[in-house]
Amino acid sequence: MKPHKYQSIVILTGAGISAESGVKTFRDQNGLWENHRIEDVATPEAFARDPALVHNFYNMRRQQLLSDDVKPNAAHKAIAALQNSHPDVFLVTQNIDNLHELGGSTQVHHMHGELLKSSCTACPAISDINEDLSTDMPCPGCGEIGTRRPHIVWFGEMPIDMDLIFEKLMNCDLFISIGTSGNVYPAAGFVQEARMSGAHTVELNLEPSQGASMFAEHHHGKATEIVPEYLKMIT
Ligand code: OAD
Repeated sequence: MKPHKYQSIVILTGAGISAESGVKTFRDQNGLWENHRIEDVATPEAFARDPALVHNFYNMRRQQLLSDDVKPNAAHKAIAALQNSHPDVFLVTQNIDNLHELGGSTQVHHMHGELLKSSCTACPAISDINEDLSTDMPCPGCGEIGTRRPHIVWFGEMPIDMDLIFEKLMNCDLFISIGTSGNVYPAAGFVQEARMSGAHTVELNLEPSQGASMFAEHHHGKATEIVPEYLKMIT
């Protein structure tokens, strides 16, 4: 068998990888936030103030994700194929959709949570949810009513399992960032961590991101084209 060019790979994905699957990105002209200020729907304070509004916002996102129009694309599938053929590929996504899993990835670290899960403000229970969440639903863990919330990391909250992510970044020799604008930390800082570990760093995005100058290599274009092409080149 041919030896692998890189031994330990970390891939970070953002909304751009799912754009061609029909899931809107955050900061484009028609982006998700257009009709909602972030403070109204994506903070713990917003949920405390108006839980019904926040539920409604994420219920709409969930319904969209579960519609027949939203399917994994060639970029999700190319990453899954790499994970299946290479022993050490850690995939960390900022996306709350399940398109990596549907594309065949068996290891996906959702650092900003998952739309198809709910958590609870009163207990540690995390449960699957395919239907609308509402303020009168009991938590399956503790039975409390009104405590169930989307399992999403909101602004002001800590992304999930950062220790594991930093451990992977410290030990990788290739870091690839796909479809992310580089606006939101800590993910926007991963490239610096990877550089400090001596890793080769690659940006695959429609256009140069905020942090583009931090990357050693760039390919700009649609994820469905540049991701399969790039991953083929390194395997
Ligand atoms: P953004 O919407 O900020 O950025 C999406 C990036 O994808 C942009 O740089 C686009 O140019 C690029 N893009 C769009 N279409 C593309 C395509 N077809 N192929 C390749 N690239 C494409 O989304 P994120 O960077 O993921 O956080 O946003 C990061 C976080 O900000 C999100 O996880 C979310 C948000 O606030 C939370 O909800 C906590």
